[in-house]
Amino acid sequence: MRAIDLEGKVALVTGGTRGIGLAIARTLAAAGARIALTGRDAARAGEVASGLGSGAVGVACDVADAAQVDAAVAEVERTLGPIDILVNNAGLTRDNILLRLSEEDWDTVLDANLKGAFHTTRAVIKGMMKRRSGRIINITSIVGLIGNKGQANYAASKAGLIGFTKSIAKEYASRNVLANCIAPGFIETDMTSALPEEARASLLQAIALGRLGQAGDVADAVLFLASGLSGYITGQVLVVDGGMVL
Ligand code: NAI
Repeated sequence: MRAIDLEGKVALVTGGTRGIGLAIARTLAAAGARIALTGRDAARAGEVASGLGSGAVGVACDVADAAQVDAAVAEVERTLGPIDILVNNAGLTRDNILLRLSEEDWDTVLDANLKGAFHTTRAVIKGMMKRRSGRIINITSIVGLIGNKGQANYAASKAGLIGFTKSIAKEYASRNVLANCIAPGFIETDMTSALPEEARASLLQAIALGRLGQAGDVADAVLFLASGLSGYITGQVLVVDGGMVL
């Protein structure tokens, strides 16, 4: 028997074709959820979804584009039914110190990381309200809590996501729609693979548990927030960083 049962639930995971998003999709699928994942490349999204089995679907969608998001949500609801769980995971970085940060790099990061969550949440919220049930889980970052040199755009997007989540939590609590954030620390994925060995070693020193995080560590926290075990938790930020920021 599964520890946490999501049988019959439909979960939409944005940016689910690799890294943390893929681990989330796999973990929710293993708990019985029917998965829809989005990626910017249609072929890749379809291929990854077919590897998940149990009728998972992959949909092409750039979360920064409202029309694409609306079309993707409509397609998922046509294919799998109403969305019970939304995981806003899609995100990217364009790092630079402020003096060299271009307006384009600012907009690209804010559009994907923050506006993207606005687009997807707006597209699913009506259905969740009507059914008086829903979970929205936004993947922010410890950088959104403490800031980081060279990441003013990314930190602003992730801090914004926290304010967005708390507001949604307050607006829709009366309809039993719960919204929370997960703030990962340093997780080994494509996003962090370019870090030089020296920086990696000094990061390790700062992590109380003495290891870098894995995508599955974040996925397990998502499973908790998607499940019946967290029915009295909303508007919170769950930090998954191995004790890095204490
Ligand atoms: P990744 O780069 O491996 O995967 C990100 C996914 O988001 C990719 O599938 C990418 O195609 C998708 N994506 C990016 N922009 C998109 C857009 N406009 N529309 C649709 N999809 C888009 O990165 P990773 O590490 O798996 O990150 C996942 C989330 O976790 C991101 O939101 C990231 O900011 C967050 N995070 C990651 C940490 C880490 O240490 N890896 C730490 C804290 C937060």
